[in-house]
Amino acid sequence: MSNSLDQLKATGTMMAGPEGRTLWVARAIAKYKPQDATTNPSLILAASKKAEYAKLMDVAVEYGKKKGSDIDSQVEHALDRLLVEFGSEILKIVPGKVSTEVDARYSFDTKESVNKALHIIDLYKEQGITKDRVLIKIASTWEGIKAAEILQRDHGINCNLTLMFSLPQAIAAAEAGSYLISPFVGRILDWFKAHNKKEYSKEEDPGVASVKAIFDYYKKFGYKTIVMGASFRSTGEITELAGCDYLTISPNLLEDLMNSTEAVPKKLDAAQAAAQNIERRTYLKNEALFRFDFNEDQMAVEKLREGISKFAADAVTLKGILKEKLSK
Ligand SMILES: *[C@@H]1O[C@H](CO)[C@@H](O)[C@H](O)[C@H]1NC(C)=O
Ligand SMILES: *[C@@H]1O[C@H](CO)[C@@H](O)[C@H](O)[C@H]1NC(C)=O
Repeated sequence: MSNSLDQLKATGTMMAGPEGRTLWVARAIAKYKPQDATTNPSLILAASKKAEYAKLMDVAVEYGKKKGSDIDSQVEHALDRLLVEFGSEILKIVPGKVSTEVDARYSFDTKESVNKALHIIDLYKEQGITKDRVLIKIASTWEGIKAAEILQRDHGINCNLTLMFSLPQAIAAAEAGSYLISPFVGRILDWFKAHNKKEYSKEEDPGVASVKAIFDYYKKFGYKTIVMGASFRSTGEITELAGCDYLTISPNLLEDLMNSTEAVPKKLDAAQAAAQNIERRTYLKNEALFRFDFNEDQMAVEKLREGISKFAADAVTLKGILKEKLSK
């Protein structure tokens, strides 16, 4: 009997990740053969404490010194370069794409998000990396989704819409032509457990239900945007999404799946979705409706707020470290 991970792959689901710790689990990456991987300030913050990645920090600091006029612009340049340094390292390991995050501080500013993304793509280009190997990761706010629309349509730059907790966000992201979305599973479960003070079986997991609804909607209406489920708390949440386009799974859960021989039947199915009776909605040309429908979902509103705040705080910490190094 093949293990659960092989069965999961047999349903057509592609693997990305391992989420988090990407670089220093290079060994794990080789073992599980993911297609793509991601990076963000939180991961870099942790990785940069390791000796083997300290040199990337040095390169970024040198670059910042050269490019920036005052200390703040030096920090800004150094941070952008650091993200790209890490992304380039990851691309030596994975055959697919790497996600690079736009500073969460710009989550409510379409223009700044677009400019930052264009700059990151330019920096990759200087490293000899073409845009087809990069995904720009943007928070799924109204402004972020509008930025993705511009990047995809006018610049052919692929986006990974993150901090996605609801169908309205997913619909708008698809209408914007986003290359990929990463709806969260575990973070949704966390909220419902805390809010309702109860446990959920994998069959009634609200995070699983959210991703399934998004998947069904996309397949029903023929959207090409890739659905990549992310943030898992258990293997049950993963196997309930067997058949999803992509899943990004942490090394410990990958290992659990590898060691298990439990059957993994396909749960998400495009043909079945197409046969369902789903109401079509449209948001991209109706900001007020998007905001109203999104606002109706308390969990999504709170998790988006929290996610942006945390990402931004990590970027601030990382900038603090760079600033200290630049001031020396
Ligand atoms: C997209 O972003 C999510 C985080 O929201 C990450 O887990 C995932 O690996 C990224 N996808 C790719 C293909 O880089
Ligand atoms: C998985 O199996 C390997 C090899 O048998 C073992 O070393 C490892 O501890 C197991 N991991 C888990 C999480 O059970």
